[in-house]
Amino acid sequence: MDSIKVFSPGSITNLSCGYDILGVCLQNRGDEITVKKIDKKEIIINSNDDYNISEDINKNVAGIAAQALLKNTKTKFGFEIEIKKGIKPGSGIGSSAASSAGTVFAINQLLDSPFSQMDLIKFSMEGEKFVSGTYHADNVAPIILGGITLVRSIDEIDVIKLPSPKSLEVIIIRPNIEIKTSDSRKVVKNKIKIEKMVQQSANLGSFVSSLYTEDYGLMSKSVVDVIVEPNRRILIPEFDKIKEISKEDGAIAVGISGSGPSIFSLSNNSTVSEKILKSVTNHYEKLNISYDGFISKVNSTGIKIIESN
Ligand code: HSE
Repeated sequence: MDSIKVFSPGSITNLSCGYDILGVCLQNRGDEITVKKIDKKEIIINSNDDYNISEDINKNVAGIAAQALLKNTKTKFGFEIEIKKGIKPGSGIGSSAASSAGTVFAINQLLDSPFSQMDLIKFSMEGEKFVSGTYHADNVAPIILGGITLVRSIDEIDVIKLPSPKSLEVIIIRPNIEIKTSDSRKVVKNKIKIEKMVQQSANLGSFVSSLYTEDYGLMSKSVVDVIVEPNRRILIPEFDKIKEISKEDGAIAVGISGSGPSIFSLSNNSTVSEKILKSVTNHYEKLNISYDGFISKVNSTGIKIIESN
């Protein structure tokens, strides 16, 4: 195989109760990444989008992740990477993760898959460290594994794939502003009260249980953030109102997607999802806030190969 094109999807993370450890792979929105082998041992990036993404391999997450992978191989050839971004950077649905994970996945295929999924998560995390300042695998893990994932450890990468209830749907509304992950992480407090830690741990445990039992009532009570959301919500236009409207329309839970500004709602009924999407987009339209809004099922397979030859 000399060339491969993949679709690397978006993801939502944290799910309110699992800061830096929970993630969901989306079906809609994603980057198209084409990687070709080249004779010279180097990495070349061509960005094909409207976002002015750097083509410098030391400033582009795909280049950074690709270099982390190549340090662990003895390959004689290099790679030309073309990225057509389908996710706006700084949108809270894993834009950087889609580029870095999709790139290392594609290179691994061209090398006949010497690396495991956990290795690919590790290489992709170098891109996440570059954009956010700290290592976290909550976006890259569900993109590479598919479905809903829980990152138990990033020292020695250990990720658990959780069950995805079949009827679970995600409604995303993204106000058209950019929030840099590094900035959004600055408002997260380093110290928390033990009572909050206890409450959040209970929420996380009961959320995981709700996935196994498909108990949406329990899910609704568990997808609650008492630690991070109270500080981040002010960064997002109309966050409280969007939450209120979505809940009125029957959302199981509503929260900040990743580091924002996207807001996610969960639903287990397509009619309810459509109703939520309509209400929240109407609200932004009334206030002249430009947005992107969509509904996605959980993508259980993750990165998809579009073509290879
Ligand atoms: N868990 C991360 C955060 C996701 O909330 O900052 C952003 O990439």
